[in-house]
Amino acid sequence: MARPSIYLIALAVIAPYLYDRYVALSGMLANRPGSFQNLNKFESHEIKFQDQLRNCEDVLLEEGMGIAFLSCNPGRDRWNTVMGTLMPPSTVLDGKDSAHIWIYDYSTPNLPESQALKPLLLSDYNNAADFHPLGIEFDAVTSTLYVINHSRYSGNIIEVFQVSVQDAIATHVQTLKHPLIRTPNSIHSLGAGRLLVTNDHYIGAVTSPFLSKVEAFSGAPGGSVIYTDIRNSSHTKTLAHVPFANGIAMLNSTVVSVASSSKPGIYFYAFNAENPSMKFKKYIRTPAGADNLSVDSNGKLLIAGHPFAPALMKVSSDRAMCDMEGTEEQKRACECTAPSWVAEWSEAGGLNPLYKDSGVEFCSSSTFARDVGRGVGIVTGLYERGLLVVRN
Ligand SMILES: *[C@@H]1O[C@H](CO)[C@@H](O)[C@H](O)[C@H]1NC(C)=O
Ligand SMILES: *[C@@H]1O[C@H](CO)[C@@H](O)[C@H](O)[C@H]1NC(C)=O
Ligand SMILES: *[C@@H]1O[C@H](CO)[C@@H](O)[C@H](O)[C@H]1NC(C)=O
Ligand SMILES: *[C@@H]1O[C@H](CO)[C@@H](O)[C@H](O)[C@H]1NC(C)=O
Repeated sequence: MARPSIYLIALAVIAPYLYDRYVALSGMLANRPGSFQNLNKFESHEIKFQDQLRNCEDVLLEEGMGIAFLSCNPGRDRWNTVMGTLMPPSTVLDGKDSAHIWIYDYSTPNLPESQALKPLLLSDYNNAADFHPLGIEFDAVTSTLYVINHSRYSGNIIEVFQVSVQDAIATHVQTLKHPLIRTPNSIHSLGAGRLLVTNDHYIGAVTSPFLSKVEAFSGAPGGSVIYTDIRNSSHTKTLAHVPFANGIAMLNSTVVSVASSSKPGIYFYAFNAENPSMKFKKYIRTPAGADNLSVDSNGKLLIAGHPFAPALMKVSSDRAMCDMEGTEEQKRACECTAPSWVAEWSEAGGLNPLYKDSGVEFCSSSTFARDVGRGVGIVTGLYERGLLVVRN
């Protein structure tokens, strides 16, 4: 066969793929610095706890108790297995900079800040220095807290704690490690110890920072959704493959939604709980790399994400040098300039963007959760100080 026709066939084979990458990249380019348009549809908003909280990825609302769990990890500056920042830990491990799960009472009016926010004390747990929390999930029925721990020394594991909210104590009960849970990012609890877990990559950054990035940029479906049961881990199995799978949430008892950060959008699956399995239903594209998902009590899907991936990657790599007491250059490395994007989605209403910010007001949004009854919403920022607390 003549050379040109081989190229033509090759082009025909990869054209749909190129088109897909083109659409993803042009969406991202529309969000580049300079052409980015801010948006704010919330009734009011404020940034809280700027001096107490940093690098919070996750927020989880427990509406029954009017509290939020927050997973915050200042150490992500130097150790981020998802983005591939793999520096030795800082030698100054003061208490202020260590990772914590926090309980935030957002429902009691006029509570002083010092009482509204409490760190959860981890008990029977002697590895606090190697604690790198990412996704968290709470099963209110059994008061069980699941925490993904990107540990430096024992790899990626899921820690199980029994929580007393009253005393702000989490007692360690179990550690789950399984070969299929390679790069865990987010957890959805199905109750009674059964979990859906996303793996963000097939090739984790600890294995190869370079290949891990290639995987993310190509949009290859290297991430996955895993079913597991903490009472019997032999039931662990892979349910679906998703490019850079990130947040996971159930719209209702039969529909699972999974965020993809590299093929920016949401994948929807029909879920069979009897014999855990997932069947692809549809995909919707989002104008930002979708990070985490949650579902509010009206059944709306809440999405936070990253409109311009290169800005987030720059913050992530600069942070390795961040030192507030250091040189001008080291101080500049502590800045957060990645834009934010927050939206809601429903079958009837489609995708409705609620908040877009260039990163000046609130940077690197990663999770949005909302208490519909009380009209309160909380947005976390992966590399930001404090929380964005909104009313609507
Ligand atoms: C994280 O993993 C390390 C290593 O296994 C363990 O010692 C530590 O207790 C874990 N932390 C949490 C909070 O899960
Ligand atoms: C995303 O948010 C949900 C619910 O708010 C939480 O359970 C989950 O752990 C979060 N995951 C990550 C990776 O932030
Ligand atoms: C775990 O599940 C397997 C397969 O269903 C079963 O054979 C085994 O007995 C179970 N183990 C425990 C400890 O329940
Ligand atoms: C679950 O949500 C989907 C998508 O919004 C909807 O089509 C379906 O009817 C819902 N199922 C139930 C049982 O509510």
